[in-house]
Amino acid sequence: MEANTQNLEVDLNYTPEIEKATAALYERVKHVIPAMEWPMHAPYIAAIEEWKKKRNAVILVHNYQTPEIFYGVADYTGDSLGLARKAAETDADVIVMCGVHFMAETAKLLNPEKTVLIPDMRAGCSLAESITGEDVRRLREQYPGVPVVTYVNTSADVKAETDVCCTSSNAVKVVEALGTDKVIFLPDEYLGNYVDSQTDVEVILWQGHCEVHERFTPDDLRNYRKEYNQEISIIAHPECPPDVLGEADFVGSTSQLIDFVKTERPERVVMITECSMSDNVAVEFPELEFIRPCNLCPHMKRITLPRILESLQTLNHAVEVDPEIAERARRSVERMLEIG
Ligand code: 13P
Ligand code: SF4
Repeated sequence: MEANTQNLEVDLNYTPEIEKATAALYERVKHVIPAMEWPMHAPYIAAIEEWKKKRNAVILVHNYQTPEIFYGVADYTGDSLGLARKAAETDADVIVMCGVHFMAETAKLLNPEKTVLIPDMRAGCSLAESITGEDVRRLREQYPGVPVVTYVNTSADVKAETDVCCTSSNAVKVVEALGTDKVIFLPDEYLGNYVDSQTDVEVILWQGHCEVHERFTPDDLRNYRKEYNQEISIIAHPECPPDVLGEADFVGSTSQLIDFVKTERPERVVMITECSMSDNVAVEFPELEFIRPCNLCPHMKRITLPRILESLQTLNHAVEVDPEIAERARRSVERMLEIG
């Protein structure tokens, strides 16, 4: 798609019209967004809505985005698996991925003809940084014939060397679907450890870690139980270290954690994961008490309303993948989507 040459000027004043147009939305999120911040967000939300239509764009938003993005501009919200599925289904011309770079790259692999934008190219991931395609080729030489299962939190280069991808919500299912007694699981050591604890398949690990989840400690979780006299549900993402998961009541992907809250309705809950997620879930369940440890993902936080607007207007920050790499990487993502 051609970059736009039309006038990019937008009125970003908090006019009475914008106040009225966004009043119902603010009513919904006022529990987590202070009133004094709304006049800053509302004009961007209105402008993004307009540009989304002009571009025939769809905005996919990860569960870790801040509430003004999650509730303000998303067409779809979800975990990495849910966003990849939506990317595979959409008939929009432009996909704006409000997540991190590997998520946008996955969307591009599934939609080579579409324009896929990431509002800030610097939105990376410590797991994706931990391994290269060359590393995977070396592992294959070291373990001939052992299939490679790769977490989607990786570059297209790494996916191209992979048999099948997985996310944190389907990792066990994917590993078992291969029908082998051994797999190489890359690159998240802790997710791999968790998979290992849930299956009889032997899991060969790599030492990649998420810089956000590795900061939690088992003492943090024990202290919550002590402080609240055991009256707390502790639910954790499998990117946390094994001794942290050992203290949790439930382990799951971001969407599985949200579903846990929806179905179990614990009176008091702590989500051991990136902290914007608790804000987003709290909007839907104002009657529940969320204890919010604030571990922010600096990469996710690079995505802001002004950057989303700018990328829609200019079509800058389009993700491209070398076609030869894309061809091989796509197969590993599609194979995952076929497994479920
Ligand atoms: P989910 O697939 O659970 O959304 O995880 C993605 C991620 O990056 C978590 O840190
Ligand atoms: Fe990567 Fe961790 Fe950020 Fe998720 S939270 S995007 S795994 S650095």
